[in-house]
Amino acid sequence: MQNQSPIGIFDSGFGGLSVARAVRALLPGEDICYAADCGYAPWGDRSDEYINRRVDRIVNFLLAQNVKALVIACNTATAVTAKRLRETWPFPIIGIEPAVMPAEKETRSRKVGVLATTKTLSSGKYHLLCERTADDLTIINCPCPGLMDCVEAGEMNTPKTLALLRHYIDPLTAEGVDTLVLGCTHYPFLSEAILRVAGPNVSLIDPAPAVAKQLKRRLYETGLLNNRKAGGTEAFYATDANPAREKVLRTLWGPEADLQSIPSDD
Ligand code: DGL
Repeated sequence: MQNQSPIGIFDSGFGGLSVARAVRALLPGEDICYAADCGYAPWGDRSDEYINRRVDRIVNFLLAQNVKALVIACNTATAVTAKRLRETWPFPIIGIEPAVMPAEKETRSRKVGVLATTKTLSSGKYHLLCERTADDLTIINCPCPGLMDCVEAGEMNTPKTLALLRHYIDPLTAEGVDTLVLGCTHYPFLSEAILRVAGPNVSLIDPAPAVAKQLKRRLYETGLLNNRKAGGTEAFYATDANPAREKVLRTLWGPEADLQSIPSDD
């Protein structure tokens, strides 16, 4: 593996692009290979067995693209698979988890809402994270089925999406929450709509920049950092790639993005 090899980034769908864009901003010389499991998403309400199987499929695809490191750009997959992947593979593997600690620093009302998938919020990893917070902090967990589908459909600001956001967020603001943790990588793409619903005084916490920093640190420590200062490329792949999905990719990333297929495994 060489420092010119690409960084592999994956998610159940296009949510992980919120992490990929932070990686692109911090590491402009690195090549990125992004894999989305659109054909088998969402992952957030599925069994551990299902998520492990899908993650292995996507990781094997990325390894075949000769990636030098992996970013699990998915809170759900990190909760379920990060430990096992790190025990299996020798290269840097960076995960993401709900940014409860940064939210604890930010909140003035001492009430924090965490928007994430059912799977992330019920995981042992997340419970351990919450146990490390101060006793006076109230954390209100809010599983948000259906929200990632809005992003996958390219519906970031439609009446349907706003109605779903109101359904999830109104009870949190009514409780006095002043800080919302975006605990699923799809949700940063809904930031504008979330602020419309929650009001301008609520802070949103997105851990993507911290994940990019951690990736840079690990690449440096392992001698895998690409010395190029600019000119990194991006390749985007998905299961069940089709023109509608490519259109959403272009809305989220930019008009120059092309979507290629991950071959089907069934
Ligand atoms: N984007 C993913 C996460 O961060 C999960 C979305 C899903 O597949 O349910 O958890």
